[in-house]
Amino acid sequence: MNDVFLKACRGEAVPYTPVWIMRQAGRYLKQYQKIRKKVDFLTLCKTPELAAEVTIQPIDALGVDAAILFSDILIPVEAMGVKLEFFDKRGPVLNPPVRDDISVRNLSVPEPGKELNFVLETIKILRIELKGRVPLIGFSGAPFTTATYMIEGGTSKNFLHTKRMIFQSPDIYSALMEKVTETVTAYLKAQINAGAQAVQLFDTWGGIFSPQDFKKHALHYVIKVIKNLGEWQRTERNDPVPVIYFVGACSGLLEEIKTCGADVIGIDWRINIDDAVKRLGNKFSVQGNLDPCALFLPKEKIEKRVKDILERASGARGHIFNLGHGVFPETPVENIIAMVDMVHRLSRR
Ligand code: CP3
Repeated sequence: MNDVFLKACRGEAVPYTPVWIMRQAGRYLKQYQKIRKKVDFLTLCKTPELAAEVTIQPIDALGVDAAILFSDILIPVEAMGVKLEFFDKRGPVLNPPVRDDISVRNLSVPEPGKELNFVLETIKILRIELKGRVPLIGFSGAPFTTATYMIEGGTSKNFLHTKRMIFQSPDIYSALMEKVTETVTAYLKAQINAGAQAVQLFDTWGGIFSPQDFKKHALHYVIKVIKNLGEWQRTERNDPVPVIYFVGACSGLLEEIKTCGADVIGIDWRINIDDAVKRLGNKFSVQGNLDPCALFLPKEKIEKRVKDILERASGARGHIFNLGHGVFPETPVENIIAMVDMVHRLSRR
């Protein structure tokens, strides 16, 4: 098996720096668009054979070192009982939003083997179809980022409803977060049991907080998830899978993030990765951190930036090359292929 990615997660010696791309399955690929013409996004997520097919598309097209399950962070939210719809160009809409005591009480904590079984089926198909070519990453939204979609009813700019709930109705917020945390924990355990070989927690919106508020209202719940996963893996499994924690706009929060308990920390592009490594210390591997928009540069300029990141990350315990956030649908595929090749070529030891 190509286990370079898993080795880098654990900080073991690797022959080259592994690379994958956040949102690597998606609209920038013609092969993906062809399938999406026939089915809507949620149907795609819920049809294991198709979800497995689009998960493998970027492995064939780009030569990346890991596959990430095709799904969405809002899939478990729907299973908690919130109505979810996706509209082209508008993104997800959750209706009605969760803003009061009663709506929190009405939420359920889904049993992954029942309400989310299509995800577990997708993972099982993928482990067979990947045949060890690359490891499979499972994922979940981190509790806070997941909760913002429930409270805002979709994507947001200022997160006013979320912060207002946190500051004016802390009891409602913590009741909601307990349910979301329980859901995320059970969901990740089920993904690992089904065959996920690493898991990533996406805290896309963590960067909207001051460090103190981040710690109390977002990180606290992530620590709970990772601690629970760790204890469970130590007692019930003999091959613990690495946990990756990604926080968007993390640069003001690294001293807090350091306490999360993950194996790998995802770094966005707003900070030099060597600065992040210095502040995190050598207990972690790092993942990142090319600006997704740098893929619109001419190839020789992309190469300069790839080289710079590889050099800056060379002091880390381990490095997994990635973008600092998801790839844009408009990105030229040939530039992504070239970038993957650059990472492999320039980092070969
Ligand atoms: O990385 C991968 O390739 C795996 C699949 C994946 C998707 N979403 C597929 C998707 C993953 C890991 C996600 C995570 C996700 N989803 C996050 C966290 C990571 C991040 O990018 O910050 C968030 C915040 C979401 C919520 C979400 N899903 C939004 C806001 C949108 C609309 C915006 C957009 O990109 O269209 C989605 C839709 C979505 N999720 C698509 C895909 C491929 C596009 C759907 C389509 O085909 O039209």
